[in-house]
Amino acid sequence: MCGIVGYIGDENAYKVLIGGLHRLEYRGYDSAGVALVSPEGHLNVYKARGKVSNLENFCKDKNTDGLVGIAHTRWATHGEPSDCNAHPHFSEDGNIALVHNGTIENYKILKDALMEHGCKFHSETDTEVLVQLIEYIRINNKCSLVDAVREALRQVVGAYAIAVIEKNNPDTIIAARQSSPLVIGIGDNDFFLASDATPFVEFTDNVVYVEDGQIAVIKRGEPLKLLDLDNRESTVDVKKLQISISQLEKGGYPHFMLKEIFEQPETLRDCIRGRVVDNGRRVILNGVLDNKERFLKAKRIVLVACGTSWHASLLGKYLLQDMCKIPVTVEYASEFRYSNPVLDENDIVIAVSQSGETADTLAAIKIARSMGAFVYGISNVVGSSIPRETHSGTYIHVGPEIGVASTKAFTGQVMVLTLLAICIGHLKGLLSDHEVERLGHHILQIPDYVKRTLELNESIERLSLIYTYARNFLYLGRGYSYPVALEGALKLKEISYIHAEGYPAAEMKHGPIALIDSEMPSVIIAPKDHLYDKIVNNVQQVKARGGNIIAIVSDGDETISGIADHVLKVPDMPECLTPIITSIPLQLLSYHIAINKGKDVDMPRNLAKSVTVE
Ligand code: G6P
Repeated sequence: MCGIVGYIGDENAYKVLIGGLHRLEYRGYDSAGVALVSPEGHLNVYKARGKVSNLENFCKDKNTDGLVGIAHTRWATHGEPSDCNAHPHFSEDGNIALVHNGTIENYKILKDALMEHGCKFHSETDTEVLVQLIEYIRINNKCSLVDAVREALRQVVGAYAIAVIEKNNPDTIIAARQSSPLVIGIGDNDFFLASDATPFVEFTDNVVYVEDGQIAVIKRGEPLKLLDLDNRESTVDVKKLQISISQLEKGGYPHFMLKEIFEQPETLRDCIRGRVVDNGRRVILNGVLDNKERFLKAKRIVLVACGTSWHASLLGKYLLQDMCKIPVTVEYASEFRYSNPVLDENDIVIAVSQSGETADTLAAIKIARSMGAFVYGISNVVGSSIPRETHSGTYIHVGPEIGVASTKAFTGQVMVLTLLAICIGHLKGLLSDHEVERLGHHILQIPDYVKRTLELNESIERLSLIYTYARNFLYLGRGYSYPVALEGALKLKEISYIHAEGYPAAEMKHGPIALIDSEMPSVIIAPKDHLYDKIVNNVQQVKARGGNIIAIVSDGDETISGIADHVLKVPDMPECLTPIITSIPLQLLSYHIAINKGKDVDMPRNLAKSVTVE
């Protein structure tokens, strides 16, 4: 995680960098820092623990002049969040400053070797090793900055996106990438660099996605140059950016999370557009149709993901098994990569990731490819690493998701997985034209169903007041509602810091039932589906033990509505489409509880949106 930004041009670099850091704060907010080369030739480095606003306060009376600079927002890995561990780190002679996103795995060996040569360290970070190593090489080899960076990177094992500036060289930034994202923006008279393109959308839409193993030489007034670690030059492929500034603002909502929850009718419409056609009669996913043979011969599908994307993937399992009759397994990418997976060319691996940058998911993809599996990506961020590393895939097209707790990306992922299952099921002749049309017809109405569900907001806000101070929550569901229960519990944990457990409702009697009392509310997701009568029993079991129940049920429900303490009714629809709808009240419930508790819902403690470390 961590976010890096860089600027060189005619504008005040500090302003551009601070604006950029605010956009990248979703990547971590343990500390922030900036390094600027002043017009007088000083290298000014300012850092502050905590959010970017702390850095701004700290810099109020400082010299922030300069037309070149780099900046960083940190999610702590090596060393506690503190001023001294904050980036940028600088070389002992104070000439070179560096920001880094990633981890240097062999930092200890390098650090010991540098210390033997008399080098002194001031932080506990792995990053400081890199800047001291660059300085050491620069001085001892009497080489240029780019040569020193290249030589240093040849000695480094790990993941990095870095940007380096030098006091005596105010017309140059050197940047490089290995396994952590890095994008360069090309303006009329300036260059921008960042972990993603959001820091510079208002300045340019010409972008270059730096590849693994590339070093970018960014020089004022000269074309961008890309070199590899053997100093070979590669062509610069400029792409057009597809996001707009309005997508990055709150648009009148108090928080990004609430905006993103309420955007879902639109984001789902964007996700479906062009994919469910002819009034719902056909479902088209080009990523599948262009690789028809691979999907037809698949003997197994393996879904790999992390966090919320893993919950969406678990729903993918239910959908794909139901509609395509292919065995499906769902793996945490972090476990999968070290589990000696057995795959071959008859397997399809589907990697699901909002950011398209999650390190574990990327590693899982590499393993799957190396074993001959066909790898399909489901991502949100256009041009991110996962879509570039997969054989084929589908974007969810829900626009930038900034709130750290994922909402619209989850429903977008579930939507794409639903379309994927329908598309493959139809190709295999397992779903009739009539069934595709029936589902397609409902899918086209999903944006309206979501809109109706969002009308529950006020009742949920009132309900949230009753349970704000509960210390534990249980979320229960069966079948398609089980992954929804897991996701509902995760949302609550992430932003309100209340312990919550998601459980298959019928498994409750094998353990969690012991916890039930009047202090522990249960949220039961029970739309009208083929397991409805079964979950009624589970509802009774909770009630019999004095538990309070919040039930999410379908319009027209009577049985559970007669037992539960609080009932939230959502539109009735085919079973496989219910998760998108039933997850909406759970998003709102966790939002309101967290707000009642005064928590920062967009930037919950210890979390980050894009996890580019193992
Ligand atoms: C982090 C985020 C989650 C996200 C997970 C996987 O933990 O806070 O919201 O679900 O990473 O991220 P991805 O970008 O791969 O979906």
